[in-house]
Amino acid sequence: MSKDIHTGFDETQYPHINRGLDGIVAFSTTKSFIDGQKGELIYAGYNIDTLAENATFEEVCFLLWNDRLPNAKELETLKADLIRERNLPEVVLNYLTGTDKDAEPMAVLQSAVSMLADFDPTKGAYDSNLFMSQAISLTAKIPVIIAAFDRYRNGKEIVAPLSDGSTAKNFLYMLNGVEPGSQAEKTMDLCLILHAEHGMNASTFTARTICATMSDMYSSITGAIGALKGPLHGGANTAVMNTLLELETQGEDADAVAFTKDKLAKKEKIMGFGHRVYKVFDPRGRHLQKMSKGLSEETGHEEFYEWSMDMLNTMKSEKNIDPNVDFFSATVYYSIGIQPDLYTCIFTMSRISGWTGHYMEQAANNRLIRPRALYVGEKNLDWVPVEQR
Ligand code: CMC
Repeated sequence: MSKDIHTGFDETQYPHINRGLDGIVAFSTTKSFIDGQKGELIYAGYNIDTLAENATFEEVCFLLWNDRLPNAKELETLKADLIRERNLPEVVLNYLTGTDKDAEPMAVLQSAVSMLADFDPTKGAYDSNLFMSQAISLTAKIPVIIAAFDRYRNGKEIVAPLSDGSTAKNFLYMLNGVEPGSQAEKTMDLCLILHAEHGMNASTFTARTICATMSDMYSSITGAIGALKGPLHGGANTAVMNTLLELETQGEDADAVAFTKDKLAKKEKIMGFGHRVYKVFDPRGRHLQKMSKGLSEETGHEEFYEWSMDMLNTMKSEKNIDPNVDFFSATVYYSIGIQPDLYTCIFTMSRISGWTGHYMEQAANNRLIRPRALYVGEKNLDWVPVEQR
């Protein structure tokens, strides 16, 4: 008998296995609340609709790191800190402009973030007095990394970061080499607000798990980026755009309804639909849908929005499944001229605020995260010498 005296877990019994940790509550948090039945999302007290209407991404960062909104002076200080932290170490820049141009942008971002630890003056120390400066540095540098690599792979000269302006403005400037108009900046800023935080999703859980070993913030974020990259998580936005581009190859008469039904008949998943927590339309999706409609019309790509709506209606009638945040964000990014394989990187430059907020929360009340697995293999087999196997 090997019953754990602390947990009552009995190695010889077959406990219920909660596949995918569905419904398991592993932490308490002040960072966000989701009501999956009502379609409600709250960041540290504020409804996502309120934030979408009023906040800037920088205010949301402060909120997720401090559990309250900044006053005017605090906001100015944070903005100045984020601007000051935009410059990348030369070694990281050399990597970004020397790596394989065909490399996957999320893989490049992950490597570059991991390298940043070497050049952090705090050396990524596990010290609560240093976490805020590490979080600010990562939030400032991630957009710069993404833009620098994208320009390099497209044969364009790297653009130095602006010494003023918002995260959204600087990113679009560094990506395109020209300052964005106020509408494009506002669109990007809203996308950053909408993707900033979302409960115990896979990448946040990964970030907290790494933090709980008392490992540094850079390791935690590198792991989180790896988790976000997968198509069942943040990678879905790129997959959605690839689906729409696949439809485009069928010409103007492309039938998104038949396309969706055909995929469902083959038991394939339709990217950008479904969610572990939401059983109704993702509240972030409504804002993105509105943006997607307006921008598709503006850029003369109405067909993408129409196909999206055909897919949405088909998924609703065939499976009663609603779109998630990744569905309409894809056409929004496409409409502002961003290459599809960068979409998950943009998710990262927003979610860094939530991840680092959770890192600080985990460290402040830490316990090692260490669940159990049920062993279902054989035991105590006789050893067979290699020549007899
Ligand atoms: N297309 C077709 N069927 C689906 C889809 C989909 N996108 N999503 C769920 N289903 C079906 C699924 O086949 C299953 O049916 P059945 O019970 O007949 O086998 C049922 O709905 C339950 O799905 P599940 O995969 O067991 O649900 P889950 O909670 O384990 O997974 C999910 C959630 C998001 C991974 C899943 O909905 C999915 O794979 N969606 C497509 C990928 C995607 O868009 N990911 C982004 C998630 S939201 C943003 C983010 O986190 O980055």
